[in-house]
Amino acid sequence: MTLLERAFALRDETIARRRDFHQHPELAFNEVRTAQIVADELRNLGLEVTTGIAETGVIGLLHGAAKTPVLGLRFDMDALPIQEETGASYASLVPGKMHACGHDCHTAVGLSVAKLLAEKKDELQGTIKFIFQPAEEMDGGAARMIAEGALENPSLDYILGLHVWNELQLGWYGLTPGPTMAASEIFNVKLSGKGGHGAQPHVTRDPILAAAHIITALQSIVSRNINPLDTAVVSVCQVEAGTANNIIPQEALLTGTLRAFKPEVMTTVIERFKTIITEIAGTMGCQAEIELIKVTEPVINDPVLAELMTEVVLELQPDAKIKTDLQTMGGEDFSLMMQKAPGCFMMVGSANPARDLDYGHHHPKFDVDEACLPYAVAVMAQSALRVLEQRPK
Ligand code: NI
Repeated sequence: MTLLERAFALRDETIARRRDFHQHPELAFNEVRTAQIVADELRNLGLEVTTGIAETGVIGLLHGAAKTPVLGLRFDMDALPIQEETGASYASLVPGKMHACGHDCHTAVGLSVAKLLAEKKDELQGTIKFIFQPAEEMDGGAARMIAEGALENPSLDYILGLHVWNELQLGWYGLTPGPTMAASEIFNVKLSGKGGHGAQPHVTRDPILAAAHIITALQSIVSRNINPLDTAVVSVCQVEAGTANNIIPQEALLTGTLRAFKPEVMTTVIERFKTIITEIAGTMGCQAEIELIKVTEPVINDPVLAELMTEVVLELQPDAKIKTDLQTMGGEDFSLMMQKAPGCFMMVGSANPARDLDYGHHHPKFDVDEACLPYAVAVMAQSALRVLEQRPK
């Protein structure tokens, strides 16, 4: 049986697993049930398993006929705090939590890839490190796994990852040599003023008014400070202030995200961001505390690995279409792992408008066409074999 035939033989198992994970979504660092299933399955397959890395992360080592090179295959496991509205028979059983980004698919695909490659253990020209990561969506799961040594002993020579992608239709793949996903920073801003009676504004320092001016002025960064031929995003996504209709509050809180592909663009965004907030807050008699947290670096695919994966896709699925210029302002903390070894992150087209399966990621009706899953399994497994054989430089 070819790898593709084997991936299709595992199709029902892959889909059943995905639906099980989908029904039992778990948020960042709480992927306890998911991690248990992953660890049990990897042990059943004979892998050397380590659990509890970054709370719920799982590593599985598959030793082949040769010790090196070492290839990392990374799959993320976490869900989102969203109330599902798909109406699917396998919809989330947990109120307020949902796999609205497809990480349920990634975990299921990862387990099937592990099964296929474990069957080919004796032919493997190296070691495969399966990395099942918690908390991709928030709180920095990749950074914590790296800090806890997940990419050491053995260290990686290459790393591959994937994402189901509803901005591409079924049969399409995104394999962009070079930058494909943006760097991202999250921000928390606290504006402190002087509270008081809503009818006595002149004796207060209103942080809500300061927040309103700041939110508007921040939009001038992209429109007036960034070269129109470059790209950046400044989004205020949460505003919190006040407790009653006649109280001017002491504080207002803003949180949100900054995105860019180029480091120099991100530097400009951050400089302007700080200046605008500090100076407007000052003008309004308020004080600003700004916290910025780097979440991801840009995802920059190694061109040789992107080419190798493209060849594999076209061998396994000759009518597939490859998008080689896919760029999204979405961020991925896979980028932090790619700083340790050359890597490639593949987008697997999963949208099918004819079946109403084309809602965007993080939407309450997000779902994918599962027909992409056996191909994703075959492409990852075949690419792994190919990387270990060819050892691209
Ligand atoms: Ni995602």
